[in-house]
Amino acid sequence: MDEKILVTGGAGFIGSHIVDELIEQGNNVIVLDDLSGGFIENINTQAEFVNGSIEDTRLVQKIFRENKISHVFHLAAYAAEGLSHFIRRFNYKNNLLGSINLINESIKNKIKCFVFTSSIAVYGKNQLPMREDIVPTPEDPYGIAKLAIEQDLKCAKELFGLDYIIFRPHNVIGARQNINDKYRNVLGIFINQIKRNLPITIFGDGEQTRAFTGVKDIAPVIANSIKNQQAYNQIYNIGADKPYTVNQLTEIVKRAMNKPEHEVIYLEARKEVKDAYSDHNKAKEILGYQDTTSFEEGIKEMIEWAENASIRETEEFKNIEIRENLPKSWRSKEE
Ligand SMILES: NC(=O)c1ccc[n+]([C@@H]2O[C@H](COP(=O)([O-])OP(=O)(O)OC[C@H]3O[C@@H](n4cnc5c(N)ncnc54)[C@H](O)[C@@H]3O)[C@@H](O)[C@H]2O)c1
Repeated sequence: MDEKILVTGGAGFIGSHIVDELIEQGNNVIVLDDLSGGFIENINTQAEFVNGSIEDTRLVQKIFRENKISHVFHLAAYAAEGLSHFIRRFNYKNNLLGSINLINESIKNKIKCFVFTSSIAVYGKNQLPMREDIVPTPEDPYGIAKLAIEQDLKCAKELFGLDYIIFRPHNVIGARQNINDKYRNVLGIFINQIKRNLPITIFGDGEQTRAFTGVKDIAPVIANSIKNQQAYNQIYNIGADKPYTVNQLTEIVKRAMNKPEHEVIYLEARKEVKDAYSDHNKAKEILGYQDTTSFEEGIKEMIEWAENASIRETEEFKNIEIRENLPKSWRSKEE
C-alpha cells in the first residue's frame, strides 16, 4: 500500500494551502473535512476527499484502517476564539475530543509524525514578544483546548513514541480565508462589511495589536517541517514579526478598497488579549522560516482574491450555550 498523508481541515484556509504544497511535492493526500468552515472548491483536485468529522471515531478509525497513513497534519477546528467563551461544550467536543480521535489512531498505527496547528492563543496575556519558552496561560476555551492538545501530544510522545511538531500561528491572512463568518477573521469581517456597504465594526478602541501573517509564508514551512528530523518534538511560533493596531488595519483596508471614507463604528470592548505578537527566531533558525509578506501586500493580496469570492451575511451560530455577556453584535435580532 502506498503511504498517504492525512490533512484534517484541508478544505479550510491554511489547510488547503498545505495540501497544495504536499501534492506539488508528489505526496498522496487524503483530506478529512466536514465543510463546517471550509469549502469544497478549496480542496486540491488531486487529493482524496472524505467528507466527515474528526469527532466521528469510527470514521477516523476507518481512514487509518483502509490507508497507510504516514503523517497527519491536523488543522480541523472551529477557530472562533472570542466566541469560544459562549460555546464551551462545542469548543471542547469539536476541537479537543476530535483531536484525541486522531492522536489515538496515530499512536495505534505508528505514524511517522503528527503536525498540529495550535495557536498564539495558548499564551493568553503574557510577556511580549511571546516566546516558546514562556509558560502559557490561555484566557479562553479555544486557547485552553489548544494547550491541552499540545500537552497530550507530549504525553503521547513520552509513553508511545509518537513524534509531533506543534505550530503556534497567528492572524493569518490571504486567499481562501472564510470571509463570511462574523465571529472570526478580522480582515475577512472588514472586507465583508465594506463589500456589503455596512459600517466596519471594531470591538473596543481599536488599539489592540496583532501581527498579520501571509498564508504563503507559513504553509510551505509547515508542509516541509516533516522532512526535518531536527524539527521533531518541538513547538514553533510562526507568523509575521511586526504588530499593527486594528485601527491601522482598518485604515489600510479602507484605502486598498478605495473606500477611504467608509464608516467605522466602535463597539463595547469584548474580552480579548490586548497585545498578542510573538518571536519567530526558533522557526527561522530550525525551519528556515522567513517573514516576507509585508502588512500592506498581505492585505492587498487578500482583497484581490476577495474580488471574485462570494460574500454573504453570516449565519448565526446555532447553539450558543451561554448568552450572559455575549457581545450585542453577536445576539440575534430578536434579543
Ligand atoms: N487562521 C489563523 O489565523 C489561525 C491562527 C492560529 C491557529 N490557527 C489554526 O489553524 C487551523 C486552520 O485554521 P483556518 O484559519 O484555516 O480555519 P478554517 O476554518 O479555514 O479551516 C478549518 C477547517 O476545519 C474544518 N473543520 C472544523 N471542524 C471540523 C470537524 N469536526 N471535522 C472535520 N473538519 C472540521 C472546517 O470545515 C475548515 O475547513 C485551525 O486549527 C486553527 O485553530 C489558525
